Amino acid sequence: MTDTRIHEAKVRRFYDADGEGAGIAYERLMGTIWHHGDPTAEAAGMSPVEAALILERDLMAVAGLGLGDRALDFGSGPGGATLNCARLTGATFVGVSNSDSLSQRARALAVEQGMVQQAVFLTIGDQDYRTLAAWPDSCFDAVTFFESVCHLPDKNMFFEAAFRLLKPGGRLVGMDWLQRPWGVCQTDEQIQRVIGPVCEHIRLAGLGTVDSYPVMMRTAGFEVTHAVDLFAEQLCWGSTPPEDRERWLTYDGPAGDVFQAGKRALDAARGAGVFTVGWFAATRPR
Ligand SMILES: C[S@@+](CC[C@H](N)C(=O)[O-])C[C@H]1O[C@@H](n2cnc3c(N)ncnc32)[C@H](O)[C@@H]1O
Repeated sequence: MTDTRIHEAKVRRFYDADGEGAGIAYERLMGTIWHHGDPTAEAAGMSPVEAALILERDLMAVAGLGLGDRALDFGSGPGGATLNCARLTGATFVGVSNSDSLSQRARALAVEQGMVQQAVFLTIGDQDYRTLAAWPDSCFDAVTFFESVCHLPDKNMFFEAAFRLLKPGGRLVGMDWLQRPWGVCQTDEQIQRVIGPVCEHIRLAGLGTVDSYPVMMRTAGFEVTHAVDLFAEQLCWGSTPPEDRERWLTYDGPAGDVFQAGKRALDAARGAGVFTVGWFAATRPR
């Protein structure tokens, strides 16, 4: 049986500045927004960051947040996405991460962007996502997640905790890394042969699918309104311009070999078609 405590601590060490330093590497390679963007925007020639901002705009429209609302962004990382969502909606955000160096970076970014009144960034314990017990019932209008739930061994517990935190009518909106059958990789064993190294190098706790997330959300009590493979019918090469590939493969900061290996494994999974990214929205019934 997997010792989940060890996995979650590995994730924290992966990101922490005094661990493997993925936070430092990712910021150098991607800036302060790390998730995929809208594929149509990228196909139209927009940069990965511009495409990410378009996707955030669309997801915030689905979240229905407005001035005076409160949202929790789970896995806020360096804070760029959280701050943009706060700016777009006028809502107040609490960003949480289990990496304190990422929370510190996000707080500094909030200061740089003049957003401290609208966003706070907190570090939570490795296992706290299972209950989010620091918050009372029904205290948020939305819970968001951008490519963070894929790190969690107990994804279903996170969805149950998010349900408890939401007010009736509140929205759960997020996006994540997923796996799927594609081409010659149809069985779970064939898919795992390609996805396994991605999970190992990037400290993921196994990937879900566009169908498994709604099942977990419904089990937690949500009404699921959207479950969308952003790269349906196409390979997911989003956010990977060729010039970036070279920068990843020659990254020579701390633990550079770790990030180079992760990039190689991820590109293999993108090329095999079994890796994709999806977005989801669900409502806590009134
Ligand atoms: C890939 S980063 C996403 C950053 C940001 N959402 C973005 O898209 O730019 C993943 C985030 O999930 C957080 N995370 C992973 N496992 C966690 C856990 N057990 N508890 C809290 N946060 C966790 C990491 O600390 C990190 O902030």
